[in-house]
Amino acid sequence: MKISKYRPEFVLFDNINIDFNKKNHKNYNYFSSGKSCIDYLCKFYKLQNKKIVIPSYICTDVIEVLRYNKCKIIFADVDIKDLNISTKSLKNILNTNHDIFAVLVASLYGNPCDIINISDICKKRNLLLINDCCQSFGAKINDIYITNFGNASFFSFSPGKNLSGFAGGYLFSNDINFKLIHKFNNNSYFILTFIIFILNRILIDKLYTFKIGFIFSFIKKKFFNNEIDYLSNLNLPNWVKNYNLKLINRQETGKFNYKNDYILSFPSNKYFKIIKSIRGENVSFRLILFFYKIEHKKNFTDYLQSKSIYYSTGYKSFSNQKIDGIRIDNLILNIPIDKNIKLRNYLSKCILEWLDVN
Ligand SMILES: Cc1ncc(COP(=O)(O)O)c(C=O)c1O
Repeated sequence: MKISKYRPEFVLFDNINIDFNKKNHKNYNYFSSGKSCIDYLCKFYKLQNKKIVIPSYICTDVIEVLRYNKCKIIFADVDIKDLNISTKSLKNILNTNHDIFAVLVASLYGNPCDIINISDICKKRNLLLINDCCQSFGAKINDIYITNFGNASFFSFSPGKNLSGFAGGYLFSNDINFKLIHKFNNNSYFILTFIIFILNRILIDKLYTFKIGFIFSFIKKKFFNNEIDYLSNLNLPNWVKNYNLKLINRQETGKFNYKNDYILSFPSNKYFKIIKSIRGENVSFRLILFFYKIEHKKNFTDYLQSKSIYYSTGYKSFSNQKIDGIRIDNLILNIPIDKNIKLRNYLSKCILEWLDVN
């Protein structure tokens, strides 16, 4: 058996039974991706040359867009229980820097960050709070959808998120009058993105589709405008919105619950812990292993390779946060949870076997 890179579920032929407007109360609008939402916010809140605190462990796309907009980034440490921003570290930074303008937090891997306390801190200090829910749409705290916190929040449907589609992001904010935003259309950009998604993600196991996908990706890079500025002004076509609604629909009807159940099924052990939610209602979707020793991680990855199981490392950490002298990003391992139950069982069997032998 072989477990490949993450294979998203294909929902094109599903029915839509939900009305997205009823689920969330803030003003919102569609953007082409999570990055576009951040880019729009940088411009709207005039973040250029302003100091913004963000977690040091986060998807590098976030940093890329903030740097593109010339924000001055200050990195806070993360809580190693869930790898989300540490409220203590944030407070320390705010106590020693008096010219911070904004805070951006993310709820990584579907696990809600400490958004209630952080909202209070930001309100008291009059700081702008941007809430990145790209990996956590549907998560709740105190029965409130996580997207309802912050001055602005957003989520994304790109591959690799908890609702893994091919394009699109939603931005929520009561500060913004979305009716005044004028965007332009480029349907062929989304058609091409969809074709690449089918070839490189849905049909990931087939070598020939990957090669064709490579050609389409090349065309997209060479002949389409991929500038952040341009992409954040694109309208999302209705057929893409509908595809995304179908993903939301699957989540709302509990079709993705198997992922969290799977995460919870592993025993605690002396080699690694599995990153789980520590608050609220989570929408976890990946197996994130946090090793205590680097040599155990090495031994484990060699073993996964011998079993043809795909894994990747975590994000790069932008702080020097260490555990027993080892940088935290060297201890993290990321394994996709496949939609096929046989492959999930194979993965469990292999992990349990490794734990048994060691
Ligand atoms: C936490 C987080 N924020 C933002 C983004 C950017 O989203 P997108 O890929 O839709 O541009 C990502 C992407 O991986 C992410 O994980």
